[in-house]
Formats: sequence, structure tokens, C-alpha cells
Amino acid sequence: MVSYKKLGLVNTKEMFARAIKGGYAIPAFNFNNMEQLQAIVKASAETKSPVILQVSKGARNYANQTLLRYMAEGAVEYAKELGCAHPELVLHLDHGDSFELCKSCCDMGFSSVMIDGSQLPYDENVALTKKVVEYAHQFDVTVEGELGVLAGVEDEVKAEHHTYTKPEEVVDFVSKTGVDSLAISIGTSHGAYKFKPEQCTLNAKGRLVPPPLAFDVLDGVMKELPGFPIVLHGSSSVPQEYIDTINKFGGKMVAAIGIPEDELRKAAKSAVCKINIDSDSRLAMTAAIRKVFVEKPGEFDPRKYLGPARDSMEALYKHKIINVLGSNNHLAQ
Ligand code: G3H
Ligand code: 13P
Ligand code: ZN
Repeated sequence: MVSYKKLGLVNTKEMFARAIKGGYAIPAFNFNNMEQLQAIVKASAETKSPVILQVSKGARNYANQTLLRYMAEGAVEYAKELGCAHPELVLHLDHGDSFELCKSCCDMGFSSVMIDGSQLPYDENVALTKKVVEYAHQFDVTVEGELGVLAGVEDEVKAEHHTYTKPEEVVDFVSKTGVDSLAISIGTSHGAYKFKPEQCTLNAKGRLVPPPLAFDVLDGVMKELPGFPIVLHGSSSVPQEYIDTINKFGGKMVAAIGIPEDELRKAAKSAVCKINIDSDSRLAMTAAIRKVFVEKPGEFDPRKYLGPARDSMEALYKHKIINVLGSNNHLAQ
């Protein structure tokens, strides 16, 4: 049993309470490798922002569970080395799909887990989530549950359409399960293709603007659960400059569209206190690597392309923290 407290990590409880009061959101950035982790830690330390280091089931398999535990411990020490005396880093399981996976993460140094029963019938989602909460809370590990289904692909599971969260279910779900936070569905979705061009309108610059998020659903949830921590998945903005760079240097990403940043800024000011971003980091990394490969075809030292990729991700994370989520300068001490 590896306690996250021994690794210097924290759970989400206090940071979420402060974020709701302060009208900002904590970034949950997914990572799979050292360069992403370095960029996240550097961005959070230099902006003095709490941050959630988010690991999917696939990322855990990719990176190795033992290595991850030491990477998280190393992240805490690295943040201190960067001058952040009291870093607030959470190691969080993203989209846990079974009790066994969530238990294994609690036992291996994670300070927070998500159990995603959103595709299950309601009563089965309640039962599974409750079981995870009962286990995790023994060790002060916080738990995120989900109600409503996001359109798109999550691991192997694919949903054609959004099923928005039903505000009338949230009180029952939270009180029966004991979850610490709730992910909801209001029109965001995973990946780089969140909307079809025909769903969008054109702005003055000729860019596609997607339909707005269902803020009425969010308002309904907040009315039912005043002050309760709400989570938004699928919140990458798919910056067009990355898509343009990828396509310029040999890639082929057609009609990739994300969530406009002003919509996320608006959400961050509400009870939405955790915003998940993965695809934007993938795009930043891919754009930077493609550029080096095309401009310097003789280069074969991985540091010469992973280094620029890391710099680009760090700039992205800082931008999200400062200009979108507003979590900078919000460490407890
Ligand atoms: O929500 C999903 C995350 O973007 C993680 O994706 O399962 O490919 O690691 P992944
Ligand atoms: P994006 O694909 O929009 O980055 O969403 C990531 C996410 O929700 C991880 O759980
Ligand atoms: Zn997600």
C-alpha cells in the first residue's frame, strides 16, 4: 500500500472548495510521458497554480503503474526545486471503468479517482460508484462520479449523441454514492472533432464557431446542488494554429473543432471547479514534432524534437491556467 500523502500529493477536497468560492477552475491535464509531466509541473509551479495530474487507464498501461508512482513523487520534488515550497499536485485516475482499477490506483499512490459509470443504467452506476467511494474514503482518496453521457469515443466506448445530465437526478446520485465531485454532460465531448462543420456558424475571420454549451443544464445542476464541485470533461479548444501547423507539415486533420475558450472561462466562474484537457496537449506536441521533422529532416536526436514539443506544451498549460481557468496564484500557501 502506497499512501499518496507519503508522496507529497494532495486530494481534491480543499482545492475544489477554494476554486468554487474564488470563481476559478483547477486544470486537469492528462499525461502519458515525462515531457508532458515536466511541462505540467513547470507551468503550475511558475504560475503558482494547483494542478491535477490526470492518468487514464490507457496511460497507466502505457507508462507502467510503478513508474507512475515515482513520477508523481518526482513531480512534487521537481515543483519544489522550481521554487514552489508547497505544491498542490493531485494524481487522479481518469475514467476508471471498474472497482478493481480504482482500488489498485488507491493502493498505488493516487490521491483521487474517477469511477465512470455513466454508460451504465442509473442504479448500476449508483451501486458501482458507492462501492468505490466506500473503499477510497478509507484512505482520504477523493472520488469523481459521472452522470450523463458525452458524445464521442471514450476508450472503446462510443456514444453517437450527448445525453445531457438530468438535474433532477443529481441530488439522489450524490447522496446515495457520497462522491466528492460530479462530472456532467452539457455539450462537451472528447477528442479533436467535437462538432461537425454543419453544426457551426462562421465568424468574421472565417473560422467555424460551434453551438454554445448547455448552460441551462449547468444552472439546473447548481440549483439542485448548491456549492457542489462540478467537473467538465472534453474541454479542449483545439487551437487552429496547431491544426494549421500540423496540416502544413504533412499532417491531415480536417475540420477539427473544439470548445471556445470564452465558454470555458464562463464555466470556470461557476461551480465548475475541474476542467479536463488532453487533446490540446496532444496537438501542441504533434505540431511541434512535425515542424522539426520537416524543417530538419536530418535530425534524429529525440531531445531536438521532444524539447520543442515540451516548450510548446508548457506555453499551452500556462495559457490555460492564466487566461482560461484563472487558477494562477491560488495555492493555499
Ligand atoms: O478522456 C479521455 C482522455 O483524453 C484519455 O484518453 O484513454 O486515449 O488516454 P486515452
Ligand atoms: P479533451 O479530449 O477535450 O482534451 O478531453 C479530455 C478529457 O476529458 C479527459 O478526461
Ligand atoms: Zn474525460
